[in-house]
Amino acid sequence: MIVNNHESKIKLEAIGKIVAEIREALIEMAMPGANVAVMDAVAKEMLMANGAESAPIHDYEFPGYTCISLNEVVAHGIPKDRIIQDGDIVNVDVSAVKDGYYADTGATCIAGTPLSSRHIELLECSRAALGAGIAAAVPGNRIYHIGEAIYGVAVKNGFTVIRNLTGHGIGKQLHDRPHQISNYRVNKENQVIKVGHVLAIETFISLEDEWVDERFNGWELYTSSKNRTAQFEHTVMVSDEGPIILT
Ligand code: CO
Ligand code: CO
Repeated sequence: MIVNNHESKIKLEAIGKIVAEIREALIEMAMPGANVAVMDAVAKEMLMANGAESAPIHDYEFPGYTCISLNEVVAHGIPKDRIIQDGDIVNVDVSAVKDGYYADTGATCIAGTPLSSRHIELLECSRAALGAGIAAAVPGNRIYHIGEAIYGVAVKNGFTVIRNLTGHGIGKQLHDRPHQISNYRVNKENQVIKVGHVLAIETFISLEDEWVDERFNGWELYTSSKNRTAQFEHTVMVSDEGPIILT
């Protein structure tokens, strides 16, 4: 959506703050021995306490209040009864709606001791790529400049991007126009970024894969080689002074 009044801005800021707090709480919990289902129950309580609803449940009847994806699961991990192990790569993705406005955010961490220094580098690269993507979300740029920036950081660090998972516009819907913000330059994503644009920018950086093509349970997404991936996501609002992170 394009925000053009103060009330919308206030409501987006409110839901942005809520999902960010839940993301941080879940990342803090993501230690060896933690139960993924308990993490999701904490998210449920925080949503209810803030008068917000889980977007995956509200929009998709997803079997969980949040998506928690472990190790080879790239996205849409079901937060089931499962104990996190030392070295697991844990991604939490929190999206919610309140007063008709949505925000979407995600982060990845390593529980306990990393299994490989490459895993640490993967997370650092994905976080840096998100920063570069957000920095490209300025008025006058085109949507593909965001993907170009993300891709540049991935390649510089010897990683790949997942080509068929993308960010998206957001606001009064979870998935709004522009419908795709890829992690590489796609020339047809040529919409001009304008003041007031609300965008969920997300990175999917992989050790070496480029496509997710497997699905388990109808939800959980994998690459065929089940390599590790790291996702980070923020909802941002474009202002005339640049992007403002709402999450
Ligand atoms: Co998300
Ligand atoms: Co998203």
